[in-house]
This record gives sequence, structure tokens and C-alpha cells, in this order.
Amino acid sequence: MMFSTRSRLEESRVGWNALPKALRFAIFAIIGFLLILMLTLLGVFNREPMMPAPPQLLTEPFLQLPTVNSVQVVWFTEFAGSQHAVTYGAGLKQTAIASTVKLSRTREDRESHVGAQAETGQYQNIKLRDIWRHEAKVTGLSAGVRVPYRVSSVREDGTTFSSGEYTLASLPESGTPLKILLTSDHQLKPMTAANLQKVVETVGRVDGVFFAGDLINIPDRASEWFDDNRGGAFFPCLQGRAKYEIAKTVYRGGAIAQYAPIFPAIGNHEVMGRYGSGDSLGEEFENSIPRAIAKKLYPEQTETQTEQWLKDRSFNTNTYEEIFTLPETSPGGKTYYAITFGDVRLVVLYVTNMWRSYNLTPDVRGKYQERQQDLDRPEKWGYGQVIFGEIAQGSPQYNWLEAELKSQEFQQAKYKIVMFHHPPHSLGDNIVPAYTDPVQIRDRATDGSLEAVRYEYPRAADYIIRDVVPLLETAGVQLVFYGHSHLWNRFISNNGTHFLETSNVGNTYGAAVGNKRRKVPPGNNKDYVALGNPNGLEPIVPTIAPLRGEDDKPQPYIASNDITVFSIFNTATGTISSYRFDTRFPGSDVVKFDEFAL
Ligand SMILES: [Fe+2]
Repeated sequence: MMFSTRSRLEESRVGWNALPKALRFAIFAIIGFLLILMLTLLGVFNREPMMPAPPQLLTEPFLQLPTVNSVQVVWFTEFAGSQHAVTYGAGLKQTAIASTVKLSRTREDRESHVGAQAETGQYQNIKLRDIWRHEAKVTGLSAGVRVPYRVSSVREDGTTFSSGEYTLASLPESGTPLKILLTSDHQLKPMTAANLQKVVETVGRVDGVFFAGDLINIPDRASEWFDDNRGGAFFPCLQGRAKYEIAKTVYRGGAIAQYAPIFPAIGNHEVMGRYGSGDSLGEEFENSIPRAIAKKLYPEQTETQTEQWLKDRSFNTNTYEEIFTLPETSPGGKTYYAITFGDVRLVVLYVTNMWRSYNLTPDVRGKYQERQQDLDRPEKWGYGQVIFGEIAQGSPQYNWLEAELKSQEFQQAKYKIVMFHHPPHSLGDNIVPAYTDPVQIRDRATDGSLEAVRYEYPRAADYIIRDVVPLLETAGVQLVFYGHSHLWNRFISNNGTHFLETSNVGNTYGAAVGNKRRKVPPGNNKDYVALGNPNGLEPIVPTIAPLRGEDDKPQPYIASNDITVFSIFNTATGTISSYRFDTRFPGSDVVKFDEFAL
């Protein structure tokens, strides 16, 4: 057999060699051409056909700032275009014309996951991304009546792009039963899309979203809001257009923001550092310094410059404020506000600080120290966990809060809820160190030279615990809602104020119980508590179906990168129900594991 096969091969070679050279070349050329054509059609050489088609609009519309007879409709495009409008009402016969503004800070960089970045590195340097925001006010609405709507925009080439059709409503009246989603810390985390998909599958359309901060990771990176190509960007997750796979299941998020207004709070991830100060957006994000330090670093210029000039040299929330339409009646503008939503008076505070590493190695610019290499360069310092939202007694925000808690709107509300990002009570990591201005300590050698710059955070000066919580408890706040540590846990104070953190969508920092101690500086366990809730209250064991630990005891928390949690406030009953879903088992049921009443 071997012999005869070889013989046939030799025969064929002889036959091929017998052909004229030109003919052999032509055959090669034709085969090569056909191969290239086939591969091109399959998309191997041209990646475009393999990529999903770009969306018509950059986002679907979402609802903002309802009043008794109106609501704002907002959407984004990557073209300036014209004739941006909402059509609404029966037969979509009414029109509200939008006003258009270009976002000023949305950019991409080499760490972006967008478009052809992975293949071509199109954003090696930080580059402004042109995005336009359209907003129309739909008026003449009646309380409790949902109205169909859609939005459309006309591109410069005359093509009209329209959204899907959804429904909107004005502000719900008191007495209206509402389902409100309590959520936070989405940050494109792995379980966000699954979490929001399960919200809609479990409770249907929600009426509002209270979002306790950390919407994205880097607020000026456009793709994190709109189209990160890993499939879990902010708007796609909240609009049912995500595409995020876990355990061989693709989750689409939930169509939530099209129907329900979002009321966000500022988390540390909504705050950018010094504008234009880094080679990447991540570096710029890290480069926040206190405003008082910025004034010292640029003393001659400070006097003549605007407030924005100072923000650009310290920290800013420009992109967050450009994306959301929020009440602007407080001294802090959009950064803190209050609104009545049905039976709920929601007070949203700006209580968040810079997150820095607890690492104590000399090359780390962290919570507790400056880098050794930067000791003689104060412009390179991080100044510890810089407080972004001033809330200490006597600050403008504190004074405003005090007045708000005395207002008729607040006093008469059936449900009094206060939301902010930083935890007052938590088993999580990020409650340590205390929420207070870092106290700088300069260690000097005997010759006077600087040996270290360190920071301390006295727990007795925690502004949240010392100043804010007593004010809230005295005013009869029923729920304080927050995030930041990526877990679920809740507490109740002696006078009945509930404290809830329900931020478990991935990248949990765990719960500091048992052997899982927080990483804290050695030797000072008065200010840096390694285990439990540093502020005293004991965590509540879930009332319905707690998870059990290895010791088979029910756990008073969920801190998991597999099991995600969401909470729903039902104003008809005054109950807050928390649900969990195990993403390792896509076919498993969503389990209601805790419920309590305000
Ligand atoms: Fe956070």
C-alpha cells in the first residue's frame, strides 16, 4: 500500500511539473485570489462584519426630574444632528423639542474598551469623544397616567434615528403605591447585568431608582457610560441592552431607566481628579487634592480665577453633572438635593471621599502615607483620603440638611429616606478609616529632614457618625441607604432608624468577620477597627433565608462575587425586600431572603 501511494503521488507531481510554468503560476494566482475572497467574506481580514452594528442612538432615552405635570427625557448621540424630539401621547402625535448640549469632558484613553481599541489602539492618548446630550421636557401630564413616547434624532446626512417605544409619567402623588429599586456600585462589575435583569424578571417595571453612588469607575471615560465593548456599561445595563456573559449565560440587564426616573448620589467614582493631569484617565482620576491645597499650590492665580478653575486643579464632578438633570436648589447645586417622590421624601447627600490603598510599602501613595520618592514634591502628594463632600457640622451642606429636616416637605412625608455613598454602619472594608479630614503628620529626622508624610483619621472626628447620624435619627429618618463596600448588610439603631447597604454586584471587599480582618495600620485599634462594624450596631440576620457560613450559622451579610443582591422598597406596604440570585446556576430561582418594614 505504501509503495502504491507514493507512486501515485510521484505520478501527480510529474503531471503538475509537466504543465507550462505560466499556467502553473496562473492556477496559483486564481487559488490565492479565491482564498482571499473567501476569508474576506468570512470577516477574517475585515473585522467590521464581525462586530455588532453600532446602535442608532448612543443610548435609549431615560427619565429625569419629574414634576407634578412634566418629566425630562434625555438621550445621547454621537452626532450633533438636528430635529431632536420626543413624540408622545396617544398615537405619538404630540411633540416636545429637545435642547442639545455637547458633553465637555467625555474622553477615551488606552484603557478604554471600545470600538476598535483592542485591535488598533485607536486611543493611545487621551482623546475627547464627541457626544451630544438631548433633553426635552414633556409637559401637560396627569398624575398616575402613563403615556407612550419615543425619541428621534436626525443625523447630518438626513437619516432619522428613533428609539424604541416606552412609557413615561409625571411625579407620582402621595398615596400612589410604588416599587423603588435600591441599588449602587454598578461600576461595570460582572454581576450588574444579571442583577438588573433579575430585578425586572422578579418585580416587573419599577417606578423609580435610588442609586447610592459609584455608577461607573472613571467618570470621564465615555465608554463606561455608553458602550464599553465588554457589554456591561452603565446605560446598557439599566436599559436592557447589556451583553454580559456569566456561566455561559448572556445577561441583558433590565429595561428600567426608560420607564423610571433615576435619583443618583455621588460616589467616589463620580469624581475626577485634577483635569489634564495624567497620561491616562485612570491617572487623572487618582490625582485629586483638597481645594485648600490647590489654592496653596497656585497662590498667585487663585484670586482671579473662577470656581471651575479651582475644581480643575483639585477635583470635579463635571461629567456626572452634565449627564444628570437633578434639583439644583441646594447650595451644592446638583451635588446634594431633596425631592418628594410619592410618599417618599428622599434626601440625597454628597458624602464621599477619595479611595486610596491601605498599602504601607514606601512606593505607595495611599490612605496612610505619601510615597517616599515624592516627599520633597508636595504637588505629587495625594493628601490621603481627601473628603469630596464636606458635611461636618457648620458646613454649607450640613446647614442645608438641618433646614431640610425641619421643612414641611420632610416632616409631613410618610417615608423619610436619606441616601449617600459612604457607609455609616458596615461590615465592609471601606468604613475604615473614619470619614474625616486626614490629619497630616510629618516625621522628621534629627537634622530636620523629612522622613515620612503620614495621615491619621481619628474615629472620634468621623463626620458621619459624630454630626450627621444624630441629626438624622433625631429627625425621624426611617432609612439611611448607602453603598461603597460591595456587600449587603443592614442595621437598626436604638431609636428605630434602619441602615441598609445593598451593593453586591461584584468585586466585593468581603465582610470583616471571623478570620477576615480589614487591613489596617498596626498598633492603633482605637481608630482602625479590623473586625465588625466600627460604629457599634450589630448586623441583622436576614429575616427569611439567610446564607449560612461554613459553621452552618446564618450569616448577617452577603459578600459574594457569585451571588448578587438587589432590594426593592414597596411604598404600598412600607417594606424593603432583598433578593439574591446565584449566578453560578443560571436556571436557579431568585430568592427573597430578607424583609423589613419602615
Ligand atoms: Fe465607592
